[in-house]
Amino acid sequence: MKTNSNISLQLENLEATPLARGAVILNKDKFVQVLDEIDALDNLNSLKNKIIALKQIITYPKNDREGILNIDTNGDTISLRRDVLISELNQILQTKTLERANYYLKRLENGIQKIKTSKINDINLLRWKEYDEIITDSLWVLDKRDTSGAHLAWYWGNFIPQIPHQMMLRYTKKGDWVLDTFVGSGTTLIECRRFGRNGIGIELNREVAKKAKELIEKEQNNDGVVTEVIVGDSRTEDIKTVLDKYGINQVQLLIMHPPYHDIIKFSKDQNDLSNAKNTEEFLKMFGEVVENTTPFLEKGRYFALVIGDKYSKGNWIPLGFYCMNEALKRGYLLKSIIVKNFEGTRGKRNQKELWRYRALVGGFYIFKHEYIMLFKKR
Ligand SMILES: C[S@@+](CC[C@H](N)C(=O)[O-])C[C@H]1O[C@@H](n2cnc3c(N)ncnc32)[C@H](O)[C@@H]1O
Repeated sequence: MKTNSNISLQLENLEATPLARGAVILNKDKFVQVLDEIDALDNLNSLKNKIIALKQIITYPKNDREGILNIDTNGDTISLRRDVLISELNQILQTKTLERANYYLKRLENGIQKIKTSKINDINLLRWKEYDEIITDSLWVLDKRDTSGAHLAWYWGNFIPQIPHQMMLRYTKKGDWVLDTFVGSGTTLIECRRFGRNGIGIELNREVAKKAKELIEKEQNNDGVVTEVIVGDSRTEDIKTVLDKYGINQVQLLIMHPPYHDIIKFSKDQNDLSNAKNTEEFLKMFGEVVENTTPFLEKGRYFALVIGDKYSKGNWIPLGFYCMNEALKRGYLLKSIIVKNFEGTRGKRNQKELWRYRALVGGFYIFKHEYIMLFKKR
């Protein structure tokens, strides 16, 4: 049986890899040596001339007489984003004092030699400029679904893989454990496999869980992580026993993507949140999931709630904010409300015009957004 400790032993290269787009691979020792030599110069103009020469090498590798790009010799290599490196060198060229130039040079050197990560992710903060894949704005307008790997869009009511992907990038380290309380088609667990995080998912509907398992198995598992789908009710499932199996007692990220009440009926099961009789009952059931699962979230870690609002008899029901309140009532800290664009569900796609007409007549708006609410455990 796999336990947390022997799984983490298999995980190497714990630093999150910045985007490889436009990467330049350098001989690390040689590059650091050249930076040191430039740093030792006591004249700003000579220093800048050396930086110009360095830029030439990075841009036109044939000019490399220093061996900076020679990665055939023994020793470490380092891969840097070419555009970011050039912009760092330009910053040095724009400085007006030697002290400032030395400061930027040291910062560049540190980014190459050291790794500075926080307790909750593997982002190397010394190279933060290279992570432009990570969204830090509260408005997400994503134009397409990531359909690479095992991801398919077969499940009506699934979320796009970019959601769990972004959450894992920001809020987990490699080898951490993620719990998804409404696993559906398994999007989160597929992302777990792709990204080297262990994932446990709970799904009420046996048929859906079976299909999710098959799909998850199709995704490669290079890091040998656990991805288990449990058929059960997230309000009552014995999480302790589930975690015990893997020798752990906490998870580092919780993802919840509940039904948006009765917008999509996922089954006829009365334990299904989509069958709650009214909003009050839906919120009560959601609260029970929060109470049953969040005690197993590590302190200082995050839980992401993905939820949208709905209309009922012409009234906008702010399900998102109601659910947010359920988490706040239980003492979780609200860290962010992300508004994400949302393309029409399959049911509505052919009826766009009808919906527009209805909206004009009824004085309402067609839903184009949902929320990702982020909470931190104190
Ligand atoms: C919005 S979907 C989740 C979709 C998922 N994020 C995906 O990408 O496929 C909600 C899921 O919650 C499940 N569900 C509803 N009530 C549940 C409960 N009490 N416990 C566990 N799962 C439940 C439904 O069967 C449905 O598959």
